[in-house]
Amino acid sequence: MLRLSLGLAILFTYIVMIWGGAVRSTDSGLACPDWPLCYGSFQIPKDTSAKLEMGHRTISGLAGIFVFLTFFLVWFKHKTSPKSAKIASAIALLFTISAALTGMKMIKSEAPNLKYVSHMFLESFHIYESMIILGALIFTYRFLQEENYRGEGIPLWAYVFAITTMITGVLVRYTGSGEACGHEWPLCNGKLIPDLNDWRVALQFAHRNIAYVTWIAFLLNMITNFNKTSLMAFIFINIQFVFAISMVLSGFFLPLVFLDTAMGFFLFSWLTYNLQVKFTAEKGLKPAW
Ligand code: HEM
Repeated sequence: MLRLSLGLAILFTYIVMIWGGAVRSTDSGLACPDWPLCYGSFQIPKDTSAKLEMGHRTISGLAGIFVFLTFFLVWFKHKTSPKSAKIASAIALLFTISAALTGMKMIKSEAPNLKYVSHMFLESFHIYESMIILGALIFTYRFLQEENYRGEGIPLWAYVFAITTMITGVLVRYTGSGEACGHEWPLCNGKLIPDLNDWRVALQFAHRNIAYVTWIAFLLNMITNFNKTSLMAFIFINIQFVFAISMVLSGFFLPLVFLDTAMGFFLFSWLTYNLQVKFTAEKGLKPAW
């Protein structure tokens, strides 16, 4: 039961994140002007944008239910679960509640319009909340089955580079800076080093450069510590590059924007699952399943 609930919580949270990306890319964020219902009704709306937005809310509701169930099972049904798993599941629940409140605030303040800095802050913060929920759920899973941990994983220093790239990527998107370099790569507005007086250009340029450093970090990690995990990590980073560059060069062709988001958050999940964390196993505890 716990395994199923946690698996569904992870799956639905991931779907919510890429679905949210689709809502954003199609400018459907305000298609339902009220919250939590759409036009005050449980009925499926006719308009496609409203359907997308309502679908996003429905799936996030399902994710919330399974996050709560997981928390309940870890704390009250599997009382011998490691403390670390209990804390991780509590963090997932706390941020789920906070994400629901931020979602409501976003609709009420019309944040999807990205008119003001506060809008951009709220939208980006909402994605960071989702990343914390997903990360905490993955850690819950890992802490519950710590016996199976193989030990060969992604070192923290490489992980930090990847996360910094993701954090700046989210900012690029939710400050509306996606097209600040035009539809060009490797150049940005016709130059190798663009005019950085425009903060949107500077932000996108920073994101690109941090991504290059991340690429080098994962290459070095693979060379110095060659194993299946370091090889896979380098392959996934390259796939992310292919999607990101194709998205920019295609002028933000929607399916490529979608793939870029889906791969970005898959990469986040996979790296978190494989992050090298030293477990101090609590003696006498068995995995919860
Ligand atoms: C390690 C490689 C990279 C990672 C992990 C990464 C990660 C991300 C993430 C997580 C987002 C936000 C997606 C969302 O919220 O839906 C993003 C957005 C973005 N990234 Fe990257 N990125 C990488 C490389 C690149 C490169 C090389 C470029 C330039 C060609 C690039 C250009 C962009 C742009 C333009 C956006 C905004 C998309 C939009 O406005 O819809 N990224 N990135």
